[in-house]
Amino acid sequence: MNTPIYIIEETKLRRNLSLIAEVAAKADIEVILAFKAFALWKTFPIFREYINSTTASSLSEARLAFEEFKAPAHTYSPAYTEEEFPEIVKCSSHITFNSLSQYERFHEQAKSASLGLRVNPEYSEVSTLLYNPCAPGTRFGITADKLPEQLPADIEGFHCHTLCESGPDVFQRTLVHIEEKFAKWFPQLKWINFGGGHLMTRKDYDVELLIKIIHDFKKRYPWLKIILEPGSAFAWQTGPLVSHVVDIVEDKGIKTAILDVSFTCHMPDCLEMPYMPEVRGAEIVEMEKATEPMTYRLGGNSCLSGDFMGSWLFDHELKVGEEIIFEDMIHYTTVKTCTFNGISHPAIGMLHANGKLEILRSFGYEDYRNRMD
Ligand SMILES: Cc1ncc(COP(=O)(O)O)c(C=O)c1O
Repeated sequence: MNTPIYIIEETKLRRNLSLIAEVAAKADIEVILAFKAFALWKTFPIFREYINSTTASSLSEARLAFEEFKAPAHTYSPAYTEEEFPEIVKCSSHITFNSLSQYERFHEQAKSASLGLRVNPEYSEVSTLLYNPCAPGTRFGITADKLPEQLPADIEGFHCHTLCESGPDVFQRTLVHIEEKFAKWFPQLKWINFGGGHLMTRKDYDVELLIKIIHDFKKRYPWLKIILEPGSAFAWQTGPLVSHVVDIVEDKGIKTAILDVSFTCHMPDCLEMPYMPEVRGAEIVEMEKATEPMTYRLGGNSCLSGDFMGSWLFDHELKVGEEIIFEDMIHYTTVKTCTFNGISHPAIGMLHANGKLEILRSFGYEDYRNRMD
């Protein structure tokens, strides 16, 4: 196959799903999939073998839950609009409001769903500002000082999201702040959703500690149903983006292998987060070593000057046509791609447990043109 392709590997996906389902069963909680991290809907029949629900942040995600996942969504959006809200209600079992003004405006229309409020515990250990929902001036959630002593009668839950690729120790420390600030309202609630960022499928994640934290919490508040809505954890390390070298150029001693993919279009988190992706068979080296033999920048094929990352040391001189494989390029990456510059979008494939590669989707000129109408 010569076109670039994201390959999701069924065996790795199932491994994550069974671990998550086991945590849910042992901790006696519901764990649902956050579409913002993963929405390759042709894989949903596999997900349905392990989990029952998903979380949506927009009308399109709510429809995807209802129509493709075949279960109503737990929906939270920073702000609902009059135009979209009625259809969101139809597709949702739970609806969380980000502010009291949104609650006032929309709650009468949402009687069929269980309603919640997003709260802000003003504590998050996420150091990348782009991903810190509690940074000063945040637009997410209601702080404790703004909540009325008596919650509106139709509020049944709290929703709180403060983690990002975190371990259970971070959750444990965060929980202290959540309880300190919000436990006095817990007797008025039926459920609490502790958001995403619980990276329970990472190798060094202490799953037993997570289960213990939840068991202890349940002892204190046995009437509360607990929901977690991770995204990354489901698709963590489930497959690569396979690309190819198209040309090799050199300037000031720095060699760049230009690829048939783009960081800005097809791996945007590398530039946004930012982080250096792992490349199969290569070692990440410091900038100072960029001019050494067999060391390359990898460059995207867009016209954005900054569409490159570096540097990687390979064990051979790169050649035009050879494969460059970026590891772990499924979660967030596949939902965030774009067709900037008209750069060809990689295909999406699924490597089945029996070794067969199924092309779920390939993209062409029409996909670019149809967005531009
Ligand atoms: C409200 C909410 N829930 C869930 C998630 C999923 O988080 P993650 O993919 O880090 O588990 C996010 C991520 O931004 C979020 O904002």
